[in-house]
Amino acid sequence: MTTIANLREFEALARARLSPAAYAYYAGGSWDELTLRDNEAAFARHRLLPRVLVDVAKVDPTTSVLGQPVALPVGFAPAASQGLAHGEAEVIPARVAANRGLVYCLSTFSNRALEDVAAVGRGVRWFQLYVQKDRGRSEDMVRRAATAGYSAILLTVDLPTAGYREREIREPLAEGGSLPNIGSADSYRGSNVALIDESLSWTDLPWLRGLSNLPIVIKGILDPADAARAVEHGATGIIVSNHGGRQLDRAPASIDALDRVVDAVAGRAEVYLDGGVRRGTDIVTALALGARAVFIGRPYLYALAAAGEAGILRCVEILEAELRTAMKLLGAPTVAGLTRDRVLG
Ligand code: FNR
Ligand code: LAC
Repeated sequence: MTTIANLREFEALARARLSPAAYAYYAGGSWDELTLRDNEAAFARHRLLPRVLVDVAKVDPTTSVLGQPVALPVGFAPAASQGLAHGEAEVIPARVAANRGLVYCLSTFSNRALEDVAAVGRGVRWFQLYVQKDRGRSEDMVRRAATAGYSAILLTVDLPTAGYREREIREPLAEGGSLPNIGSADSYRGSNVALIDESLSWTDLPWLRGLSNLPIVIKGILDPADAARAVEHGATGIIVSNHGGRQLDRAPASIDALDRVVDAVAGRAEVYLDGGVRRGTDIVTALALGARAVFIGRPYLYALAAAGEAGILRCVEILEAELRTAMKLLGAPTVAGLTRDRVLG
C-alpha cells in the first residue's frame, strides 16, 4: 500500500478484484457521464493563490462538523452495497473513520445493519435516509439511528429515481446483498430504487423533524434557492452534491455550484460538498470557497475493494499528507485560514 501515491490509483486495483457488474455499479455515472467527469475537471480548472512568509511550522487540519470535532475536514460519503467491495462491508470504513476521527455516513442501503456499524466504537456517524414508500419503515430507521448514537440524519433528496445509467444496463448487478436497515428479507439489485418515495417534498420536512431530535443535513442540493429553502425548513447542514454524477447528467460540477449555495445560506447552516474530491488541493479549494468539510465516495469504495482496512487507512493517510502540504504551501496553516481570496476567479 505504501507505494500508492494518490487516490486515483485505487481504481485500477479495485477493478481487478470487483466483478464487472460491481465495478460498473461503483464507477458509473448517468447518460453521457458529463457531470461525472466534470466533477474532477472543474476542480482542475480552479487556481489557488499562495500566500508566502506565513509561519507554517505547525499545521492544524482539524475542524468540527455540527459541533463535533473531527480530525480532518473530510469524511466518507454514504454509498450503498459496500458488501460488493468486501465481506465486512461498511464496518471497515466506519471503523477506520472512528479510529481516525472522521465522519462516516451510513447509507440506508448498507449491507450491514446500522447497529452493527455503530458497534465499531465511538465516532461521528450520520445516518443517510432514503425515505421509503413505506413511511413506517423510514420512521423505524430514524428511531433506530437515534438509539444507536448516530448524530445526524442525512436526508438525500436528489434520487427520487436513479439516473439513466448505461453501464448498469450493460452489466446488470444480479444481487446487491441484503439490506438489513429496511428489513432483512429485502435484497437490493444495484440501483433498483423502487422502494424510495418519489412523492417526497418540502411539506414532509416537519414529519421528518418530528421523528427525532437529530439535526437534519440535506444532501443533493445545487440550486441556491433550494439551499435557502432547506435552511427555512430547519436543515442545519447542506451537502452540495450531484450524487457523484449518477443522477441528472449536465447538472453542474459540485465545486462550480458551491459558492452560490454558500452565499444563499449566508452562515445559517453548515455547507459541505462531495463529488470529484481526489486531492488535498481539492479539499483546500472547497474549503476556501466556503465548504465546512468535504466527503469522498468512490475513492474509499475502491480502496476497500483493493485492500480492505489497509486500503482505507492508506486512503486517509494520503489525503491527510496532501492536505497538510497544500495548507503549508498555500500559507494557511489552519482551516480558518482557507479563505475565499485563496482561490482565483
Ligand atoms: C453513491 N452515493 C450515494 N448517496 C447516498 O446518499 N446514498 C447512497 O446510498 C449512495 N450510494 C452510492 C453508491 C455508489 C456506488 C456511489 C459511487 C455513490 C453518492 C455518494 O454519497 C456521493 O455523493 C458521491 O459518491 C460523491 O462523488 P465521488 O466522490 O464518488 O466523486
Ligand atoms: C446509487 C444510490 C443507491 O447512487 O444512491 O446507486
